[in-house]
Amino acid sequence: MPTFNLTINNKKHTVEADMDTPLLWVLRDHLDLVGTKFGCGIGQCGACTIHVNGTAMRSCLLQVSQAEGMKITTIEGLSEEGDHPVQKAWLEHDVPQCGYCQSGQIMSASALLKNNPNPSDEDIDAAMNGNICRCGTYVRIKQAIKTASKL
Ligand code: FES
Ligand code: FES
Repeated sequence: MPTFNLTINNKKHTVEADMDTPLLWVLRDHLDLVGTKFGCGIGQCGACTIHVNGTAMRSCLLQVSQAEGMKITTIEGLSEEGDHPVQKAWLEHDVPQCGYCQSGQIMSASALLKNNPNPSDEDIDAAMNGNICRCGTYVRIKQAIKTASKL
């Protein structure tokens, strides 16, 4: 089986996997980074969102072979102490309900703010559009993104 050298949360990992293994499986099953969630597996829900070279991407759609040489960040690596401004704002607004979608929401929101520190309502809607929350926490998510933009 081929091996792949990955840089995840500033650490180097070598994994053995089939070339077309989704990065999501590698994160969860090979590296025990289970904060990234499996929702749909077809790029439709956003639960598996990570950062690839600073951009929010769906890890279920990225093959492990495509991830070599990329700088990958998962929810576990977003901040040292869980104190990224988005995480702080999430706590302040008590955003999660069941929590299942939330790491993906936070990864999408943090990528948005990195590229656009003061997003409009329309910018937030566009960036967060593909992150589904079956608990309907959308109002609090938007409030928390606005709070995080001021932190
Ligand atoms: S699990 Fe990747 S988008 Fe749903
Ligand atoms: S908090 Fe339950 S799915 Fe979003």
